[in-house]
Amino acid sequence: MAVSRRVAELRREGVEVFDLGAGEPDFPSPETAVSAAQRALDEGRTKYTVLEGTPELRAGLASRYRAHGAPWRAANVLVTVGAKAALYELAQALLSAGDEVVMPTPAWVSIPAQVRLAGATAVTVPMAAGDGFAIRAQPLLGAMSERTRAVIVNTPCNPTGAVASMLDLERLAAACAERGALLISDETYERFVYDGWRHASVASLAAAYPETVVLVGSFSKSYAMTGWRLGYLLGAPSVVSAAAAVQSHVTSNATSFAMAGAEAVLRCEPPEAAALAAACARRRRSLLRELGRLPGVVCAPPPGTFYAFPDVSAWFDDWCPDSAAFSRCLLEEAGVATTPGSAFGCEGHIRLSYACSDEVLTSGMERIARLLRGRGLGAGRRRAG
Ligand SMILES: Cc1ncc(COP(=O)(O)O)c(C=O)c1O
Repeated sequence: MAVSRRVAELRREGVEVFDLGAGEPDFPSPETAVSAAQRALDEGRTKYTVLEGTPELRAGLASRYRAHGAPWRAANVLVTVGAKAALYELAQALLSAGDEVVMPTPAWVSIPAQVRLAGATAVTVPMAAGDGFAIRAQPLLGAMSERTRAVIVNTPCNPTGAVASMLDLERLAAACAERGALLISDETYERFVYDGWRHASVASLAAAYPETVVLVGSFSKSYAMTGWRLGYLLGAPSVVSAAAAVQSHVTSNATSFAMAGAEAVLRCEPPEAAALAAACARRRRSLLRELGRLPGVVCAPPPGTFYAFPDVSAWFDDWCPDSAAFSRCLLEEAGVATTPGSAFGCEGHIRLSYACSDEVLTSGMERIARLLRGRGLGAGRRRAG
């Protein structure tokens, strides 16, 4: 958000900025969603709804995840004001001082922050860079204690693009079930998986671990509906009602006519969603090709999301000693917005988003290449020691 603020400032000053920082698809929202929401407004669907979300939307979401084998019904669903609110409400409902939540890092910034806001401890467990930051059960299991209340994974992962395998999710679910903890899986990027990788969803484990697994999802990224603020969680009715109790004092229901748009998307899969995923696959190839040409920049192909998380530490020097300084330098000197790895608990890397247009991606990467070529890697630039 600090990067976005600076981008807005520079643009106000008339500086051309190529934004590879924002995690927001450049596509418009699907026509079906827009017209259904407009119809809902025309028909006067402008009042409070049931707190947990409209029956149609809850049923539609339960049915979507039943396709993964989950025994979920409408009562297992809470519609929230974005996935961010779903995670926040879970944290507020379930955690208190002394509780621990185990999570892999790098992690999306809000996950540890929300745990801390609830007074609990975020136990961050670094995943191995050499393994592409793949989300592995073993190190997470090793960090669990009698105080562990939940394990939160985000697969595919923002910022690394790494995924968890079904086997790893199952091992985590079994360990959580044994301790009476929850396995919360944020699957906001479920549609963005490439190169033959498959998305493994905790929905497939809900039949075996009905009290343990909680799925969090969103309409924001899959359908380019970021501004609609619609997310959800699915899990045991006790978890749904605990999170709903928090929601009742924070937002009440999600926006009525926005939910009408989401209902339409679930009834009839809009072609725009597949087009967005295909555009991201194409942009990912082009970004990886360009990154491969940059000296001193190392990036394992990320299986999912619309982010790459290259190691740029070879470029660090006294002038530009860390990822925040490197990102700032790219913005101020090349007019390219990126996000420093330190924001995600991982120094040495930056996050590049390819949810932007092809033109922005191409021009942004050209600018970065030109800047780095001008600075030159090596002799005298590396930090002493
Ligand atoms: C991993 C992850 N979870 C959740 C969210 C929040 O999504 P929403 O727009 O539904 O609140 C984001 C947004 O960037 C995200 O990256």
